Amino acid sequence: MNARNGARPGRRYAHVIGWGSYAPSQVLTNADLERMVDTSDEWIVSRTGIRERRVAAAHETTASMAAVASLRAIRTAGVEPTDIDVILLATLTPDYWMPSTAALVKEAIGNTKAAAMDVAAACSGFVYAYATAQAYITSGMATNVLVIGAETLTRFLDYSDRNTCILFGDGAGAVVLGASEKPGGGLGIELTTEPEGAYMIWLPAGGAKRPPSLESVARGEHYVRMEGKETYRFATRTLASTALTAVEHAGLNASDIDLFIPHQANIRIIEAVAKGLSLPMERMFVNLDKYGNTSAASVPIALAEAVNQGRVAVGDRIVIVAFGAGFTSGAVAIEWTADPARGRAGEAAVQPEDVHVRLPVDWDSVDPIPEALAAVLGRPVAPGVEVPLDDVVPGEPEHASRKTEVGV
Ligand code: UT7
Repeated sequence: MNARNGARPGRRYAHVIGWGSYAPSQVLTNADLERMVDTSDEWIVSRTGIRERRVAAAHETTASMAAVASLRAIRTAGVEPTDIDVILLATLTPDYWMPSTAALVKEAIGNTKAAAMDVAAACSGFVYAYATAQAYITSGMATNVLVIGAETLTRFLDYSDRNTCILFGDGAGAVVLGASEKPGGGLGIELTTEPEGAYMIWLPAGGAKRPPSLESVARGEHYVRMEGKETYRFATRTLASTALTAVEHAGLNASDIDLFIPHQANIRIIEAVAKGLSLPMERMFVNLDKYGNTSAASVPIALAEAVNQGRVAVGDRIVIVAFGAGFTSGAVAIEWTADPARGRAGEAAVQPEDVHVRLPVDWDSVDPIPEALAAVLGRPVAPGVEVPLDDVVPGEPEHASRKTEVGV
């Protein structure tokens, strides 16, 4: 799928007017991973470029991190939460199968009118959601769209599998796209899906094909599985061509782009993109050393950091580009029109402790972190608390105990 965006009178454009990110404070270093699996800092840095990643605290979830990043983006945009008419949240680690995580975020940010939904396209999810938001705005169906990428991947990793556990981390990023009649914003889009790669990165159990069971858990089928080499090949084959096609749809050449903001999966993949586009690495934004691969959150976190670090100026042309499970890939060429200085104020205005995602009443939860990771990070693992799940709605009459119900 692709979209061209030539300037035409009466046309609506979708500009980035706000951006924000949030990363949890707990750091998992390569040295920590050395204590868990047979790996080394030297191997991880030389093969991936990753030095550390973040781990969500016990009380944090995809929705809570997304809400912080979203409110920062909304503050940066200078709009009110109620001005948002669509919320699109890209994730492969939703808080629940239902409701959507986007619905929880809508409530947490104090929005009352938006249609809210999740977008599933793995690590390309944010770019897919961005393209969808652009379509809502340019078609006239929406004026302000909140686009979020958020993940709590550390709860879906097998910390005895060195192929996957060294790569991923937690975090969230968001942008607000606003409608304008002034040219700018998204200029060209390219999205691809290659289902031949469907089982190269996947999470086997938990869905309709393999609902969760004692057996699926015993076999570790609720953890991310990945064929690293095949995924690497797909990424290096596809990322540069997807980016270039989006640039061409914008009527530009790769050399016209001031900064590429690629999915932060592996420094060698980003180097291959630069090489494929015949551009120096200075045109590629990189922050994977600090966060690892945060899947759908990686592009919006990188975008917010790039702008706040002064790497993007008004009038610059940038490209966001990602690849991921599916296999999917996506890119959007964007003309930047917002004052970059607004981002830092937006970030400072919202602290994580100010944001609350409503939890089900009475449903106590233990720290959902995998035990091996909890041990390395020194987080106590509380004993499980058995609380009936039929008691989570406030104001519901108390249920009779099971004993009484069966009349024993
Ligand atoms: O968002 C998309 C998510 N996925 C990706 O982006 C993954 C893309 N793939 C990659 O980034 C790379 O393929 C990896 C970083 C996953 C692996 O790097 P590689 O250079 O492709 O390594 P490899 O799989 O070919 O393994 C080379 C060696 C093997 O040992 P032998 O068979 O040569 O003795 C592995 O067993 O490195 C070994 N190895 C490790 N050694 C230390 C694999 N993982 C590790 C590790 N530490 N963590």
